[in-house]
Amino acid sequence: MERIFSGIQPTGDLHLGNYLGALRNWVKLQSEYECLYCVVDLHAITVWQEPDELRANTREVTAGLIAAGLNPDTNIIFNQSQVPAHAQLAWIFNCVARLGWLNRMTQFKEKAGKNRENASVGLYAYPNLMAADILAYKATHVPVGEDQKQHLELSRDIAQKFNNDYKVDFFPQPEPLILGPATRVMSLRDGTAKMSKSDPSENSRINMTDGPDAIAKKIRRAKTDPDPLPETPKGLESRPEAANLVGIYAALAGKTPEEVCNEHAGAQFSAFKEALTEVAVEVLGPIGGEMTRLTADPAYLDKILAGGADQARAIADPILAEIYEIVGFLTPA
Ligand code: TYM
Repeated sequence: MERIFSGIQPTGDLHLGNYLGALRNWVKLQSEYECLYCVVDLHAITVWQEPDELRANTREVTAGLIAAGLNPDTNIIFNQSQVPAHAQLAWIFNCVARLGWLNRMTQFKEKAGKNRENASVGLYAYPNLMAADILAYKATHVPVGEDQKQHLELSRDIAQKFNNDYKVDFFPQPEPLILGPATRVMSLRDGTAKMSKSDPSENSRINMTDGPDAIAKKIRRAKTDPDPLPETPKGLESRPEAANLVGIYAALAGKTPEEVCNEHAGAQFSAFKEALTEVAVEVLGPIGGEMTRLTADPAYLDKILAGGADQARAIADPILAEIYEIVGFLTPA
């Protein structure tokens, strides 16, 4: 059976990269697959989180998923810490994955920075927990942005090594789904850096809760180059900021970069930015409004997460029981 799993960290404001690289695709896939969408609070604490902020962010991200269009009645939406199987399987995968594999993970190198010795052990083992998230449900498809590709490859390696070591054909090879024209949305201030929650500049990203004025201001200030829009996307090569804005426009307007270049060929970026602001406000405005409305009702959000966790446990627990059997753990008969 085909099953989708994906996750998102409750570590701060959701931004346009999360929306275009992940959430929007999740919404499209919800009618085609059985879907589990997880707010990964265990992953969040691999770097320090203030407990009250973590609680608030977990609810806000949940509100974002629903506001973006995920139906909580037909998808399983839950926070990771409510389903113990994630941590239990992650431990087993800590013993399957090799140090050499984790040493190659570029996200750890970026996040740990120069002060590697002081990074948490959890940050290092982060991809093993991600593999456990996916494989605790034997998920077959994982919709993510481009930045998660390497972690997904590691999940596949872990699944395969487990199957080989224990001589079983138990875990599927989960397929990454990296979809749409904005799989890697870049910072508005630097076309070579990923748009991210951890960038200290607010002007580098558009948040899903930004109102029309904030969106307009950030797009107006977005870095560009002096040349007009080219006739084809070929003319965007070695113009990272211009390429990023065209990609964002294309994704928001549901067009291809070719169509966008065709329609706006020769336009100055000042004019194109106005068109971009219009489409961004049109798409994000209603979502941000709905997020604010839902966030005001924490009891509703907590109920969704608790119900989702019940459903998630019902799938993961029997799979984990089989894994314990394969590994040789004695469990009560
Ligand atoms: P996270 O919380 O950083 O991001 C959530 C999703 O948003 C995508 N994304 C982007 N896409 C395009 N452009 C960007 N600038 C951009 N920034 C973020 C991410 O690719 C992701 O799909 N490790 C994961 C969470 C996770 C997970 C999992 C994902 C935990 N367990 C199991 C899939 C399966 C993360 O930190 O995502």
